[in-house]
Amino acid sequence: MDAPKEIFLKDYKLPDYYFDTVDLSFFLGEEKTTVSAKISVVPRVDGVASPLVLDGVDLKLISVKINGNELKEGEFQVGPRHLILTSPPSGNFILETVTEILPHKNTSLEGLYKSSGNFCTQCEAEGFRKITFYQDRPDIMAKDTCRIEANKLLYPVLLSNGNLIEQGDLEGGNHFAIWEDPFKKPCYLFALVAGQLESRDDTFTTCSGRKVALKIWTPPQDLPKAEHAMYSLKAAMKWDEDVFGREYDLDIFNIVSVPDFLGAMENKSLNIFNSALVLASPETTTDADYAAILGVTGHEYFHNWTGNRVTCRDWFQLSLKEGLTVFRDQEFSSDMGSRTVKRIGDVSRLRTRQFPQDAGPMAHSVRPHSYIKMDNFYTATVYEKGAEVVRMYKTLLGSQGFRKGTDLYFERHDGQAVTCEDFFAAMRDANHADFANFLLWYSQAGTPIVKVTSSYNAEARTFSLKFSQTVPPTPGQPVKEPMFIPVAAGLLDSSGKDMPLSSIYHDGKLESVTCCGQPVYTTVLRVTKGEEEFTFSDVPEKPIPSLLRGYSAPIRLQSDLTDDDLFFLLAHDSDGFNRWEAGQILARKLMLSQVVNFQKSSPLVLDPQFVHGIKCILLDSSLDKEFIAKAITLPGESEIMDLMEVADPDAVHAVRKFIRKQLASQLKHEFLNLVKENRSSEKYVFDHTNMARRALKNTALGKK
Ligand code: PHE
Ligand code: ZN
Repeated sequence: MDAPKEIFLKDYKLPDYYFDTVDLSFFLGEEKTTVSAKISVVPRVDGVASPLVLDGVDLKLISVKINGNELKEGEFQVGPRHLILTSPPSGNFILETVTEILPHKNTSLEGLYKSSGNFCTQCEAEGFRKITFYQDRPDIMAKDTCRIEANKLLYPVLLSNGNLIEQGDLEGGNHFAIWEDPFKKPCYLFALVAGQLESRDDTFTTCSGRKVALKIWTPPQDLPKAEHAMYSLKAAMKWDEDVFGREYDLDIFNIVSVPDFLGAMENKSLNIFNSALVLASPETTTDADYAAILGVTGHEYFHNWTGNRVTCRDWFQLSLKEGLTVFRDQEFSSDMGSRTVKRIGDVSRLRTRQFPQDAGPMAHSVRPHSYIKMDNFYTATVYEKGAEVVRMYKTLLGSQGFRKGTDLYFERHDGQAVTCEDFFAAMRDANHADFANFLLWYSQAGTPIVKVTSSYNAEARTFSLKFSQTVPPTPGQPVKEPMFIPVAAGLLDSSGKDMPLSSIYHDGKLESVTCCGQPVYTTVLRVTKGEEEFTFSDVPEKPIPSLLRGYSAPIRLQSDLTDDDLFFLLAHDSDGFNRWEAGQILARKLMLSQVVNFQKSSPLVLDPQFVHGIKCILLDSSLDKEFIAKAITLPGESEIMDLMEVADPDAVHAVRKFIRKQLASQLKHEFLNLVKENRSSEKYVFDHTNMARRALKNTALGKK
């Protein structure tokens, strides 16, 4: 076996050969499967005939032909991972291979394998090389057809990408189907499914009037449980038209639910999902699981444009499709429920999953610089921090500017395999924007730490914010440069209302921040240097600043806000996220202080002002119920441990339990009332109002 090699982004080279069309033919047998591939090969530079290296793992080569002629010894080499055509003809040619594979012995969940009696594939990232010899890299985009032949009784359903163009019965109990995908795609999006499945059917009519058949395939007994996934799919299709102007492009869209599958996969028009991400029933599925199905169904569907139509040049660019698609599914779920609550959930997830990664030995940038095994790079950093990077473009450009950017991205790159710079350039060019050193977000690992101090000058009626930032060293990156950090900020007056903002003095210039002559209440400060000051003018009284509204950048913010300021924000901030955040900062401080008490064996105490703050939130009927449930939930144990020099799980656990108990006994009356008011014995409905009601009831009940 060749030893695994480290692969570097900087070593990327264009392929010497492109593949134009690929005709695949599968003969699915019980012992072995035969795969025939007919590929039309086009040299990148005409007339240059370098060796053609094809990837292939665990394949048995039966024959290889060029332009119809069987290759002889010396004209090719087969190794454990490659088939090399030593001297292909110059100019275009047809390559035909026949290989044998053993799906029933394949336990790697990659390539073609058997899952509960059905044939199923998984090709991302590098699984296609376990199916046939190919240039298994995403910048090879080809149009393909796929013929599948199998026993009709055992495998009545035969699925692949694109449209079904022919099917029929054969002698000996076999049947066949031929699928044609009119869109060129990288081979990681190839899929094949064969087995005993039934479909739940529906239709969706796109904005231009195309009627799309929607099919969710499951074992027969599970069909009723696919109702919510179907609802989610239709909602996602509509949302992508409304929000991103993206229409579905084929006459059919399939989702297959299989028990043995890692997560879910966006294969062109044939998504494959782990059953847990498709099937739901009110008796056994929680609200969180219903919401997860909505989000994942959306995510995989949204890949049709962000990943499939426009794909990645190489696997270092994974976040190009995943960061963007996570951002899109987050926005979709926001629009289907409560934006603030969704944002709180996503930020909590980032903090508990990605922050520790960014601070540990596995820290890597959103676009890694090298990898040994690509499979290890499906990380919270690539996905979730990547989504934050996309969100920052939107924060900087506003909704309309962001949409202009994505429109240009699709217009420029439909049918191409591109890089994170291409996305950046589309955002910049569509808006004539200056993004300074924004690209560092893709290359520098580590969570930036931003300190901010504030001062009010009553005489000059100015309010200043002084920022300083550092990015901690990470493996391979001992010294960091300052990042471009968008800080969304507003100022609260003493009654708790947002002050109108007029102009800011920054970098020796006075800049107006009004919008079309109208005052604004939130502005985005562009922090780009190690140290930087912003001075708001015309500030009539000492304000309380609300900083990093909506969590506008994936950083750790350390402000000089006092506990009183935080209690004020908890009570009044118009930015729901920061209202929650203020409560969390207070809770974190409280928990850390009590951890110290616990470690000294001193008695634990709960600040009455904290109890009061929680009580006000509980009783504020103007607030969204799901928001209240979030706002009265303490930070998780791992989040507190992440803040400690030396994590002390026993102490953190004891302290969290103590505070919960105290809240429960001191606010018993309020909690019980909430439980009573929010009970319902009506039939399960998946909608925001009902989910919010249940969330609040259950959170209150949990405090009993
Ligand atoms: N591309 C899948 C997604 O939607 C993730 C995945 C990668 C699934 C590799 C299986 C194997 O994020
Ligand atoms: Zn994805």
